[in-house]
Amino acid sequence: MTEPAATVTVRVPAKVNVQLAVGGPRPDGFHDLANVFLAVGLYDSVSATPAPAPRLTVSGPDAALVPLDESNLAVRAARLLADRHGREPDVHLHIAKDIPVAGGMAGGSADAAGALLACDRLWGTRTPHEELLALCAELGSDVPFSLTGGAALGRGRGELLTPLETGGEFHWVFAVADGGLSTPDVYRECDRLRQAEGRGADAVPEPEPDPALLTALRAGDAAALAASLRNDLQPAAVSLRPSLAETLDAGLAAGALAGLVSGSGPTCAFLVQDAASAARAAQALLASGTCRTARPAVGPAAGATLV
Ligand code: C5P
Repeated sequence: MTEPAATVTVRVPAKVNVQLAVGGPRPDGFHDLANVFLAVGLYDSVSATPAPAPRLTVSGPDAALVPLDESNLAVRAARLLADRHGREPDVHLHIAKDIPVAGGMAGGSADAAGALLACDRLWGTRTPHEELLALCAELGSDVPFSLTGGAALGRGRGELLTPLETGGEFHWVFAVADGGLSTPDVYRECDRLRQAEGRGADAVPEPEPDPALLTALRAGDAAALAASLRNDLQPAAVSLRPSLAETLDAGLAAGALAGLVSGSGPTCAFLVQDAASAARAAQALLASGTCRTARPAVGPAAGATLV
């Protein structure tokens, strides 16, 4: 007799880029990065249940913003894994969504990593970790980090990961804007702004991680990390969404040590001293009217985890 089919659920964290150094455009359209990722404790859950045909459902306050067709990265992840193992992607994926949608916090990437791990366990395909990471990289530049979590330096287009040590927890507040920003648009705007400043592709240096930032992470030193936060995509995100400048100002006025746009935005990330400061800053940010929600979260957080 076969075992009754069960549901497998995986919890996956959001991320913030504490450093995002962007090189010039590559011939393949991507940009070389020195991308220092920190996973933070805002989570999506991805559940996989056997089904006669592929199906996707989403719950959560922003569920209506999530595409349910083949453009959804979780659906593509299930198909990719099924193809790799020569089977049908006959699975019902359900995403309980808490990570802001199109917010620059890798919510879509988290769902892809979660779907891969959940389907691999449900189907008993036992894909080795290195191969799962390679599948993640096929799906998107940020997906490998969603699988591993913690803190890591991403080179190449962000998919070549080296884990980083962290000496403690960092407290953050994430100010979520209304509406998303398209990642390709933000990279294009970054190139355009550089060109306009006379810094064409040849004048952009190789992106390198900042040693002071890596030391601050290792030491668990929030003040030192605050001093070295940097996102090369920030001017582009602010150019496309000028109101982000007000959100960044409001976070500093609310007592944050520092703030920056998270990844390609439009979510703004504020580093604060401790949990009490996070609660106060979140309230003040909401009251400022410069964001839709303000969410405290702590990093590093574990990567994709079976629950
Ligand atoms: O890899 P991912 O699908 O997340 O990338 C989305 C888009 O973001 C790419 O098509 C590209 O326009 C841009 N991108 C980039 N350089 C990177 C990562 C992403 O230009 N390193």
